[in-house]
Amino acid sequence: TSLKTYNTFGIDVRAKYFYEINHIADLKQALQLKEHPHKFIISGGSNMLLTKDIDALVLHINLKGIEVVDQNNETVQIKVMAGENWHDMVMWTLEQGYGGLENMSLIPGNTGTAPIQNIGAYGVELKDVMVSCEAMRISDQQLKNFTNAECQFGYRDSFFKNEGKGKFIITSVIFELTKKGHKKNTSYGAIEAKLNERQIVEPSIKDISDAVIAIRREKLPDPTVLGNSGSFFKNPVVNESTFKKFIEKNSKAPFYQVSEHEYKIPAGWLIEQSGFKGKRFGDAGVHKNQALVLVNHGHATGVDILKLAYRIIEEVDKNFGIKIEPEVNIIK
Ligand code: EPU
Repeated sequence: TSLKTYNTFGIDVRAKYFYEINHIADLKQALQLKEHPHKFIISGGSNMLLTKDIDALVLHINLKGIEVVDQNNETVQIKVMAGENWHDMVMWTLEQGYGGLENMSLIPGNTGTAPIQNIGAYGVELKDVMVSCEAMRISDQQLKNFTNAECQFGYRDSFFKNEGKGKFIITSVIFELTKKGHKKNTSYGAIEAKLNERQIVEPSIKDISDAVIAIRREKLPDPTVLGNSGSFFKNPVVNESTFKKFIEKNSKAPFYQVSEHEYKIPAGWLIEQSGFKGKRFGDAGVHKNQALVLVNHGHATGVDILKLAYRIIEEVDKNFGIKIEPEVNIIK
């Protein structure tokens, strides 16, 4: 089976064996298959770079369903199965009038993978709205519940990227959303600007979602048109002394203070200043509107993209003395 349509980079590698997982029972059964000791999990395929054929049983997580599991006058808890498309799910919540996910509109991928890297955009992260998630332990096929705290969320980080890596498959996620008194977050500069441009003074959750969608469409390539995995790199967080040296030399650079002694510098800026924005090397390229996004212009291999990534890391380090790291999961 070709995995080209199962990863948003559109990388054409093959899976030796491929199983579609439509029910929890299928997952249990597939994990018990002795003839396939190696399993590889793919869901929305929106945060991975495949660099070679997969010599394992690929399990495509297609668990579906959304249900309200608890509610009162103010809030509602919904349980979303892992294979639900993230953006479609967000649109469903907004149609119900539920607030909380509007800033994270139009993020590619499926709901089950969202906790792994604690997805976030425009001032809101998954950890702000997630109550818990359920995951199947690969070793004994037991379902385990993880509270928000147990997921150990950080910036684009969680338990599932660290100690839990390769040990669990997330099957569903529970969110707590608001039915009224929505806690709207419009502090992100780009949202404010978009609402102003539209002359919206008191935005509804739908207005915020629409603004986010418009901003993302302007900056970020649509993976169905141009293969990509969103931000390829994380924004580096540096300590005070590195920051001081950096800002002395680069007084115009954007930055955000993230703690008393730590500063986040947009990797997109570092990459753009290093001359890569809009550049193309064969079919591997850097997006013209957002330098943090690497793109596949058609027939790039995973290795082509990876080579470009290494080249960028090296150049940025040479120019700024800052080591940026990939955000996407590189499958080598
Ligand atoms: N910038 C440049 N050149 C570029 C891109 C950005 O100079 O080519 C500068 C901008 O001028 C701006 C700053 O970098 O001052 C921040 O840019 P932007 O608002 O586009 O956000 P980002 O830091 O590049 C992060 C997330 C995105 C998320 C946006 C909005 C990471 C790794 N990325 O990008 O997430 O949508 O903020 O919240 O944290 C993703 O993870 O796939 C993703 C798209």
